[in-house]
Amino acid sequence: MYVLGIESTCDETAASIVADGEKILSQVVSSQIDLHNIYGGVVPELACRRHMEVIIPVIDKALFEANMTMDEIDLFAVSYGPGLVGPLLVGVNTAKGLAIAKSKPLVGVNHVEAHLYAALMGLHKKPSFPVLGMVVSGGHTAIVLVKKLGSYELIGTTVDDAAGEAFDKVAKLLGLPYPGGPQVEALAVDGNPKRFPLKGGHCKNNPFNFSFSGLKTAVMHAMQNAPFKDDTFKKDLCASFQRAVLEDLLEKVKKAQSITGCSTLLMGGGVTNNRALRKHFMEEAPDILTIFPKPELSLDNASMIAGLGFHVFQEKGPSSLLDLQATTRIPF
Ligand code: KG4
Ligand code: ZN
Repeated sequence: MYVLGIESTCDETAASIVADGEKILSQVVSSQIDLHNIYGGVVPELACRRHMEVIIPVIDKALFEANMTMDEIDLFAVSYGPGLVGPLLVGVNTAKGLAIAKSKPLVGVNHVEAHLYAALMGLHKKPSFPVLGMVVSGGHTAIVLVKKLGSYELIGTTVDDAAGEAFDKVAKLLGLPYPGGPQVEALAVDGNPKRFPLKGGHCKNNPFNFSFSGLKTAVMHAMQNAPFKDDTFKKDLCASFQRAVLEDLLEKVKKAQSITGCSTLLMGGGVTNNRALRKHFMEEAPDILTIFPKPELSLDNASMIAGLGFHVFQEKGPSSLLDLQATTRIPF
């Protein structure tokens, strides 16, 4: 079954063609970084307009790269949320239009669930469920119990900033360009992670929840108190901040492992691109089988949407074109 996936939740317009949930025949991602860079973050109205301009060319390119025509597509899959409403509307309505025009089924896919599915794509030996899942992206930080595809139980989530958002905001404080995650990672490589005693937040009502806003404020205070903000200072601050985030993420995953007994962990979301995170998880939790998405599937893409869309269709059939709506928040 050939699935055309469409992704437009935030600042990437993407289309992919995936066969049977696994085989990526084409993957096209049009990033809007150039557009939002000068504002230091995503401007929703601009994002929406850019999605409208590029979505059809992006889909055409995905068909071209797969050497296919629209008539050969069996199913359309679209990210219907969570995300920014304007950008979501562009993807959802484009997908609806294509499904109607081609008389083919359409499924709505949850973007956050798709980030976890990305880790399973192309794996020869699939883990048996239940497994733990951790999403660390610009919009989400969550630990879930994945009972099977489509069935999740939320264990912990962020009460304020998402992990990627914290990276982006710290980068902004340091005057680094958007998106800040890769910039902070690059500076952290040569920094001293122990120079600043930073820590992630503890949430009293749920020890599995995350809070990064205090950490961000601590970074701001370190900036304000520093007499010289030279390169070494910036590198040490990035390294200390990154260490604090990674330690907090892993500590809570380890706790989740101990209460659930699950020792397989699916990772998803843009922050999994961080090499220090991958190293930290592999070295500090050798008893957890951590499965990362391939780097090209960690950031927003439509292959994970087409891939999970195939399974959603097998399980539940097509979405109703009238009921499927762009949805800014979707709880696990
Ligand atoms: O999953 P994603 O592409 O979009 C959302 O669904 O939010 O994640 C984007 C986020 C941004 O906040 C970006 O700064 C962060 O992932 N990110 C990183 C790295 N690469 C991307 N954070 C830390 N280190 C990285 N190497
Ligand atoms: Zn995402």
